[in-house]
Amino acid sequence: MEARIVIEKLMQAANSVYDEREARNVVAVLMEDLFGFHLGGSSENRMIEVDDSILDHLIKRIENKEPPAYISEISYFYNLVFKVTPDVLIPRPETEELVYLILEQNNSLKQHVLDIGTGSGCIPITLKKLRPNWHVHAIDISEKALAIAKQNAKKHQTQINFLRTDILDSAFAEQQLPKMKIIISNPPYIPLREKELMPESVLDFEPEIAYATPNDNPHVFYKAISQFAGRQLEKNGKLYFEINEFHANDIYEIVENAGFSQIEIMKDLQGKDRMLKAVYL
Ligand SMILES: C[S@@+](CC[C@H](N)C(=O)[O-])C[C@H]1O[C@@H](n2cnc3c(N)ncnc32)[C@H](O)[C@@H]1O
Repeated sequence: MEARIVIEKLMQAANSVYDEREARNVVAVLMEDLFGFHLGGSSENRMIEVDDSILDHLIKRIENKEPPAYISEISYFYNLVFKVTPDVLIPRPETEELVYLILEQNNSLKQHVLDIGTGSGCIPITLKKLRPNWHVHAIDISEKALAIAKQNAKKHQTQINFLRTDILDSAFAEQQLPKMKIIISNPPYIPLREKELMPESVLDFEPEIAYATPNDNPHVFYKAISQFAGRQLEKNGKLYFEINEFHANDIYEIVENAGFSQIEIMKDLQGKDRMLKAVYL
């Protein structure tokens, strides 16, 4: 089918659910990720291999407002391509900033590094790619998320020690893992009662297990991970959290109560309190 016709059909679907600018973005991303076609760059007479049934299916997914990353199964993180499906959170730019901070603050010497709640594996795989000497470990409770993370690790030819475990019951992780120099986590942090404030595209498609926490204990993951990190880090080991800007003070207190020092809260590029770093002396 001619690219021009595919674009027209996708545009029509996108215009029915998005404003003009977003519709164009969605179509541009899908044309590029699915067909390697650059809107405005490639000739629209070019032929694209797609049959009617695939195109209809694509149109339905656009009309359902499914995030383009799930439709194409592609997400970019730190200039690397990651497979994503509705079993994993779509990596966010804020998390790239956390990875940037970790790389900037830590040298390339051999050390054990652990990512808790790894999802697509974007954090450990990027770290391993850029710090090949590190021994990188990653855990998640979701078997399905780990399956995607393992595919991503293979695609990027990175050796990561993946472990399925529940961090709220950390005895197994403590038995299985060595002492760490760095522990990182972007854990679930949205109390269920705040769900209505989230965009539909998250609520309808992203896995609830990746973002939701109980109303009566919204910081349960920060508490459990800080305590676990206090036991699992070497002396002078570092803890890095991605945080919600509205709860920075509470999380600071949780980390302090778990025995950490040199606690710093850092802002993301949008000026929001987004990252926390602490040291276990
Ligand atoms: C906010 S997502 C972060 C995903 C990825 N690290 C990222 O930054 O894109 C949180 C992850 O924690 C995992 N998770 C939720 N509950 C967990 C638990 N009890 N133990 C371990 N992992 C858990 C979810 O499956 C999800 O992959």
